[in-house]
Amino acid sequence: MEISVRKGDLTQQSCDLLVVNAFLSAKSGLKAGSGSAGELGGATGAVNAALDGDLEKFMKEDSFKAKLGSTFLMRTNGKIPAKRVLVVGLGKKEEFDLEAVRQAAATSMNVAKGLGVNAVSSILHWAGTGELKATECAQAMTEGIRLTNYNFDTYRSSKKEKSKVQRFDIVVPQAQDVRHAAKGVELGELMARGTILARDLVNTPAQDMYPEKLVEAAHQIVKGKGTLRIRVYDRAALTRMGAGGLLGVAKGSDHPPYLVHMVYKPKKATKKRIALVGKAVTFDSGGLSLKPADGMMTMKIDMAGAAAVLGTFSVIADVAPACEVHGIFGAVENMPSGKAIRPGDVLTAMNKKTIEVLNTDAEGRLTLADTLTYANKQKPQVIIDLATLTGACMVALGEEITGIMSNNDDLSTKLLEASASVGEKMWRLPLEKNYRKLLKSEVADMQNIGSRWGGALTAGLFLEEFINKTPWAHLDIAGPAYAEREIDAYTRKGATGHGVRTLLSYLRNI
Ligand code: BES
Ligand code: ZN
Ligand code: ZN
Repeated sequence: MEISVRKGDLTQQSCDLLVVNAFLSAKSGLKAGSGSAGELGGATGAVNAALDGDLEKFMKEDSFKAKLGSTFLMRTNGKIPAKRVLVVGLGKKEEFDLEAVRQAAATSMNVAKGLGVNAVSSILHWAGTGELKATECAQAMTEGIRLTNYNFDTYRSSKKEKSKVQRFDIVVPQAQDVRHAAKGVELGELMARGTILARDLVNTPAQDMYPEKLVEAAHQIVKGKGTLRIRVYDRAALTRMGAGGLLGVAKGSDHPPYLVHMVYKPKKATKKRIALVGKAVTFDSGGLSLKPADGMMTMKIDMAGAAAVLGTFSVIADVAPACEVHGIFGAVENMPSGKAIRPGDVLTAMNKKTIEVLNTDAEGRLTLADTLTYANKQKPQVIIDLATLTGACMVALGEEITGIMSNNDDLSTKLLEASASVGEKMWRLPLEKNYRKLLKSEVADMQNIGSRWGGALTAGLFLEEFINKTPWAHLDIAGPAYAEREIDAYTRKGATGHGVRTLLSYLRNI
């Protein structure tokens, strides 16, 4: 499918499906428009006029309410070149934002897929006030369309879900908007591509996505790109580096551990150096502290942090932020066996701190202890880690919101802004000093679990021990990394690729 921008008149488009929109108003369910006879405004009003007012008439007869994501479909009976018109509800104008644009575009794509049509022409969903610029709206539309079109059918014998949509044209009335919107489409394509790569990596079963495969994925991404480099450390190297956390967690698995370090350095890099760190447990059985069957069902997703970093790196050369970026993850599989670490064992992390492992299922922090120490050695100005770290974070914030813990208000604010702009929901949680006592061990420098309560926070405090005051943010993505059910118009059940778009948006704006 090709998404493109064209200058033109919506009433004159030859296509299978013409997408227009309407805001919700309290009075009639439709927003009073300007410049048209009826209540539909702008280009939608023009299409209504070309249809002799039928569109508005039928919408009223069917009591259509333009709630966000609602749709109204009608045949045009030859009155205009388009075969059908689809009105997509945008919700209340006061609540309209880029996420509404994404959802509206996604909704139209879902309808187009369902109808099995070939060519779609759409209005650029836009308040037209200048506040939401053509570029940003076209970007959001492209993200919504592409992410809706995603499906993971590698392991299906029949690929029946395949969309028939070949063209999705965004039609704008003015030549200057074509340029802006086309730029937005370009960036939206990159955002979506990175997100989709992360989704694919996470959706792939752990039988085929073990540490070596993540290393391979990193090599693939770096290959042939002048601004990217990669370095991989194997078990022998990790032993020399004293990476006791990664080596300890990997002990129970037949798959050896690796530490992967990718670097993006643009030709004219600014002084700023950012490190992105991802949790990469390719399967989390819990180890000897074995998870119950239900809890283990989705644990192929425990490398979603690294997948977000890989997704980001897969398009970073094209998104081309001005800063230097390091992408780092320590890939391991957490399995029980005669060789596995036991509750009570003590590991020594790369920074020489000793950790008493009281629960082998709190393995992510053991791997991050080393990975964060390694990241710190690159002397970045900022470290951001993403990890499916705790079920407790899901208890706190539910399935759709990431918990941010940070030692730096400015960084935290910037990440919250970036996440809001791309529609990935995040909320800050505290790094409460008073809870540090919960990680005190009887026998070692610290233990790897806290008390029954506040588990997301004690996990964050544990990670902070490996940070050394560098501005750092920890994103606990345990909930949003994977959708247990359909969440919205462009996020169906399965891996979401959550984090990629926030990272890219953050990197573009520093
Ligand atoms: N990978 C899990 C966290 C997780 C749970 C991610 C559900 C996604 C969905 C992590 O390694 C884990 O098992 N954490 C334990 C920590 C506990 C033992 C202190 C948890 O959350 O129960
Ligand atoms: Zn675990
Ligand atoms: Zn885990």
